[in-house]
Amino acid sequence: MKTTTDFLKMKAAGEKIVMVTAYDYPAAKFAEEAGVEMILVGDSLGMVVLGYDSTMPVTVADMVHHAKAVRRGAKDTFIVVDMPFGSYHGDVNETLKTAIAMMQQTGADALKVEGAGEVIPVIRKLTSAGIPVVAHLGLLPQSAGVLGGYKVQGKTAEQAATLLEEAKQCEAAGACAVVLECIPHQLTEIVSASLVIPTIGIGAGIEADGQVLVYHDMLSYGSHHVPKFVQQFADMGKEASAGMMGYVEAVKAGTFPAPKHFFTMKEEALDQLYG
Ligand code: KIV
Ligand code: NA
Repeated sequence: MKTTTDFLKMKAAGEKIVMVTAYDYPAAKFAEEAGVEMILVGDSLGMVVLGYDSTMPVTVADMVHHAKAVRRGAKDTFIVVDMPFGSYHGDVNETLKTAIAMMQQTGADALKVEGAGEVIPVIRKLTSAGIPVVAHLGLLPQSAGVLGGYKVQGKTAEQAATLLEEAKQCEAAGACAVVLECIPHQLTEIVSASLVIPTIGIGAGIEADGQVLVYHDMLSYGSHHVPKFVQQFADMGKEASAGMMGYVEAVKAGTFPAPKHFFTMKEEALDQLYG
């Protein structure tokens, strides 16, 4: 399994880091077997798996439940788990307790928190307690209400300068990587060049040190809205839908199950049964 030190080395060597989200055992297995280096158990699971229309309703218990399954499916991959909405904005000692419980219950390798400002002391506190922390800047889905929706961030010179400053603060506080979501690619280049820790981009251009995508988006699995920055590398939705329709048709038509799917009793037992 790669470590935070390996990720620093990869960045220094110009080797791209591949990250994807996963929320269950089979997805984690697919990711690990394909050579993904970091798996994110994202709170995006609220939308793509649980059917909520934002990440806000997701709880620590939800995150733990899914992260445990992912850990079982990807024993040799660095796993990052999102701290969900509301779980790291209270008293910092409470946050530390929550974070420790999440680490111990899931076997995760790191936790991720969104934003800077009041979150900087959280990054410092968790890191000093021995918990690797991934920061997350740009579009912050947990703050979509405050940001006024899911929009590109850091487009003006002022916003860009603020984001760069926040990225440096995250690094100084001990973050082991920073996710940059939905920002102009030129800003990604500047931030990536200004940090020693790797940047992982999503909707942030090619200049990030690594890339992350949401499993259900990149494999086109589900009926949710897929953002412009996503490439769909497979069409699982189409396969699943065709498979379901085929099943319904076959049962209705009486062509499934076929004899090869049957279990058979010996003639002798059958004779005894009829007496
Ligand atoms: O929850 C998630 O999937 C994320 C990624 C978009 C980075 O935080
Ligand atoms: Na997230």
